[in-house]
Amino acid sequence: PTSLNLAVVAGDGIGTEVVEQGLLVLEQALHGTGTTVRTTDFDLGARRWHATGETLTDEDLAAIRTHDAILLGAIGDPSVPSGVLERGLLLKLRFALDHYVNLRPSTLFPGVASPLAAPGDVDFVVVREGTEGPYVGNGGAIRVGTPAEVANEVSVNTAFGVERVVRDAFARAAARPRKKLTLVHKHNVLVHAGHLWRRTVEAVNAEFPDVTVDYLHVDAATIFLVTDPARFDVIVTDNLFGDILTDLAAAITGGIGLAASANINPDRTAPSMFEPVHGSAPDIAGQGKADPTATVLSVALLLDHVGLPDAARAVEAAVAADIAERAGRVRSTAEVGKDLAARVAG
Ligand code: NAD
Ligand code: IPM
Ligand code: MN
Repeated sequence: PTSLNLAVVAGDGIGTEVVEQGLLVLEQALHGTGTTVRTTDFDLGARRWHATGETLTDEDLAAIRTHDAILLGAIGDPSVPSGVLERGLLLKLRFALDHYVNLRPSTLFPGVASPLAAPGDVDFVVVREGTEGPYVGNGGAIRVGTPAEVANEVSVNTAFGVERVVRDAFARAAARPRKKLTLVHKHNVLVHAGHLWRRTVEAVNAEFPDVTVDYLHVDAATIFLVTDPARFDVIVTDNLFGDILTDLAAAITGGIGLAASANINPDRTAPSMFEPVHGSAPDIAGQGKADPTATVLSVALLLDHVGLPDAARAVEAAVAADIAERAGRVRSTAEVGKDLAARVAG
């Protein structure tokens, strides 16, 4: 029997609540596979910052690196200045571990109430670049707090960084039945970065001639995500556009409580990280109201990544069956987790 060494960063707010349920389901999913899970909890987030002033130390990072994968709940708390934990912990993990593919699938499960009247057959995946764009922190401000303040946030896009994520997105598109890739950007305004993305997609398309490519400006993409989301197959886009589009994608496919994500290092030079798309939800934290399904679906992405596709499919099937029967029922976080774990157990 092999062992899956899992780093657990439950984090803040509902993060701890949903991760507990994710781990419960993970254990059931591994049952009978010959793989057992060994978890290491990392005390990171608001509590640690208040106690020590630390967000993520070199020692934390080195310890996390020794694991096969990371399960993360959510980071961020109203008691901590906005950006301190988000940048100093969550983004630091994504950057340091080179999670350049931020994979965010959107599937409308049968039985889910979409806010759209006629959503159609929605099943697409957003490949969001994870290490560049406006997220790198390459900006600054002068004369802060004065009428003459200037605040800059610079979007960094490198040929290397764009090409590697675009190639990954093409490979994913080529492996899907519809083989369609949509580049989302804003090259009519962001001409430097936009044209780099456009040229890169054109060039890499030559390696994947059976993939059909199209392009949407990000503003138009939001229209089609609401009016015709079934048109999308694989979307590739930059870090910030991908962040915004995937909350919208979650909303049309049953809500943020269902949206899973994988921060993947495809070269496997460091552990990949699996987390729900949502945040720490301070408005409902501590009330047992959070839906753990997004975290459970992130566990399925984790299982795929570590080479246990059958276990991943079992988790997805449990979620699909649970969703099909959940209409109108109100359950606590723990009840949903327990139901999902029971379904996975068979
Ligand atoms: P949020 O995703 O935490 O919450 C948005 C809304 O969705 C809230 O009304 C919340 O109650 C609801 N919601 C979120 N997850 C839910 C779930 N599982 N079940 C039911 N309802 C759910 O976004 P926000 O309010 O913009 O951010 C709150 C904090 O979380 C901030 O500090 C932010 O920086 C951080 N954040 C962290 C991550 C992350 O760790 N990956 C992601 C997004 C936001
Ligand atoms: C997400 C979050 C993060 C992001 C924040 C908290 C840094 O919104 O995971 O979607 O913008 O990537
Ligand atoms: Mn987000």
